[in-house]
Amino acid sequence: RTVYVNGDYLPENEAKVSIFDRAFLMGDGVYEVTSVLGGKLIDFDGHLKRLDRSLNELDMQKPEAFDDLLAIHRELVRINDVTDGMVYLQVTRGAPDDRDFVFPDPETTKPTLVLFTQSKPGLAQSPVADKGIRVISIEDLRWHRRDIKTTQLLYPSMGKMMAKKAGCDDAWMVEDGAVTEGTSNNAYIVKGNKIITRALSNDILHGITRAAVLRFAREAQMEVEERNFTIEEAQGADEAFITSASTFVMPVVEIDGVTLGDGTPGARARRLREIYLEESL
Ligand code: PDD
Repeated sequence: RTVYVNGDYLPENEAKVSIFDRAFLMGDGVYEVTSVLGGKLIDFDGHLKRLDRSLNELDMQKPEAFDDLLAIHRELVRINDVTDGMVYLQVTRGAPDDRDFVFPDPETTKPTLVLFTQSKPGLAQSPVADKGIRVISIEDLRWHRRDIKTTQLLYPSMGKMMAKKAGCDDAWMVEDGAVTEGTSNNAYIVKGNKIITRALSNDILHGITRAAVLRFAREAQMEVEERNFTIEEAQGADEAFITSASTFVMPVVEIDGVTLGDGTPGARARRLREIYLEESL
């Protein structure tokens, strides 16, 4: 596989990043995951805009190649012959000479830019989507700027492990009694014709897939209500689902051991997945 590091396209085993890199030492990096379907990048502009916002919020300088990011994405997809899969992009505050809590001087320490691809043949035909996923709930112990897509993913990773240990697929995080989001996705419930999902704030990531799916839902005459919901309300809902660049729209069929409806993916989740994939291809 060929990867991109600071201006160079290299075989992955020749790519190097300093041990003093701020993302390695301090989680001082931001990232984006853009999915690829049929060789095409999905929602690239949205991901680029959010990257720009993440960089601004953290006072991190843009990598020199910022304006070439679309071309770099396309080049990697081409070189690695990715039909279905994703492009991972990470920008870090760079590698100063020493470990220091103070941000390095941006004049001397330039950001690190890394991109790589992951092929996932048949991504859109995921058999998991036909069955739906099962989630558990866990307390949301992350920091309070979840709107910034940082590489500080230890807690979400632990949440995923807690779910696996419970024989489930993912965890929904709960704060002050309300669901924030999944470990790496936005969370939704459906009641009648109404799609309910938490409103945007610093408490959740502003999903690019979320924006598209809510637009499609409205176009398909579904109602959209952006508000908090509890696990109890979710357990009593008609349907539930998650969205992310890597799962698109994924039905949820069980929450903390309680089966939703008849335990199969709901009609609206299935319809929204269909629309999302149609519109993306
Ligand atoms: N995760 N919420 C969280 C906490 C996320 O990590 C993600 C994405 C989302 C959905 O955002 P989007 O629709 O823009 O992908 C919501 C990516 C896919 C990841 O970490 O792999």
